[in-house]
Amino acid sequence: MDKLVIEGGAALRGQIPISGSKNAALPILLASILVDGQVRLSNVPDLKDIATTLNLLALLGCQAEYTGGEVALHACDLKPEAPYDLVRTMRASVLCLGPLLARLGQARVALPGGCAIGARPVDMHLKGLAQMGAVFELESGDIIGNCDRLHGAHIQLDFPTVGGTEHLIMAATLAEGVTVLENAAREPEIQDLANFLNACGARISGHGTSVVRIEGVESLQGASYRVMPDRIEAGTYLVAAAITKGDLELVDCPVGALDAVIFKLTEMGMHIEGDQTSLRAYVDGPLHGVDVSTRPYPGFPTDMQAQIMALMSCSPGAGVITEGIFENRFMHVQELCRLGAHITLSGQSAMVRGVDTLKGATVMASDLRASACLVLAGLAAEGRTDVRRIYHLDRGYEHLEVKLGRVGAKIRREKE
Ligand code: EPZ
Repeated sequence: MDKLVIEGGAALRGQIPISGSKNAALPILLASILVDGQVRLSNVPDLKDIATTLNLLALLGCQAEYTGGEVALHACDLKPEAPYDLVRTMRASVLCLGPLLARLGQARVALPGGCAIGARPVDMHLKGLAQMGAVFELESGDIIGNCDRLHGAHIQLDFPTVGGTEHLIMAATLAEGVTVLENAAREPEIQDLANFLNACGARISGHGTSVVRIEGVESLQGASYRVMPDRIEAGTYLVAAAITKGDLELVDCPVGALDAVIFKLTEMGMHIEGDQTSLRAYVDGPLHGVDVSTRPYPGFPTDMQAQIMALMSCSPGAGVITEGIFENRFMHVQELCRLGAHITLSGQSAMVRGVDTLKGATVMASDLRASACLVLAGLAAEGRTDVRRIYHLDRGYEHLEVKLGRVGAKIRREKE
């Protein structure tokens, strides 16, 4: 296993290019199962989860080739089975179920287990697909689904689930008739998925609002599409500028998708300015703690909760961070406390009291965003911080230590 070794204290200065969005690319790749033709994607980030998804697509009979951010896909010889070994390593794989049902009328996909941040069931996915005519049974941990042609339905989601919304939009594109999703998630990555599918001939409207309408079509044709930039990667680098009291310029940045993050960091005292595709972020005085509650988009993203906690742990003042999406997304707290942070947990809330300086130590990553949080804390801490188990990080951040090193961070990857 690899670890990152960080010597803290350097103020980061310079330009960071933002990569394509992991959470837009994953559903878009899986949506290519729906397309009867050649799909060409660009700005696809070089990440472990992308490689896992391409492996899954190849197993399902799709031709899939990745070269330097470009992906050529053709779902020409589809098979209906997605094996447990792949699905268990990446939950988003379950999104192949709906497209397989839509194309083949049958599918066998391993039921995803939980993960470090929570149980993460897919009951809303299955309930919606059942309303569209799919019949499911569970056999040795696999979901086996069958249907004639899926048909449109009026679906009310109990919660604005991101994956559930994506899943049902995908399945509905080839269903007979119209599907309406109420209480749909509004994340920018869902809008990107819908824009890709419409480029292939789908008829989706209302994406980005809580009511999405999909008029089923007979088939989807190949298209070329550029994946949107990653708003969580961008938010992570905004925090890197703040926590090191640096001055960073983020280019190819999805500024319009970062309102809640920019608002909170500005409230803490950071300066963030720019246009629709680039931001300059810098600090010219002390920051202070604020209260943060994670909410579905356009609220403050849960995927930025650990990162802003790292920043608050070494900023004057105090604040309460409330996790409103996942039931177990505070594993980074104990690791931050090893660096000298003062954080106390009570249910779904963490009281963070800022300390003057964090002190370097060896810490353990537990999930993707917790790893990013520990790297950020290490950049600010006095002395050396070793972040272990950074395979979590490689799932979602493209060339993190290279990008940080180029703007002055003292960071290197080592074998454990
Ligand atoms: C997506 O996960 C993202 N993953 C997550 O990012 C992100 O944290 C999450 O949305 C929330 O924004 C990808 O896009 C690949 P949900 P997803 O369905 O789709 C419950 C990262 O770090 N729920 O909106 O799994 C669920 O348990 C990852 O990049 C049900 O109960 O999120 C959770 O508590 C982490 N039943 C809540 O809803 C269901 O059928 C939100 O889940 C579906 C979800």
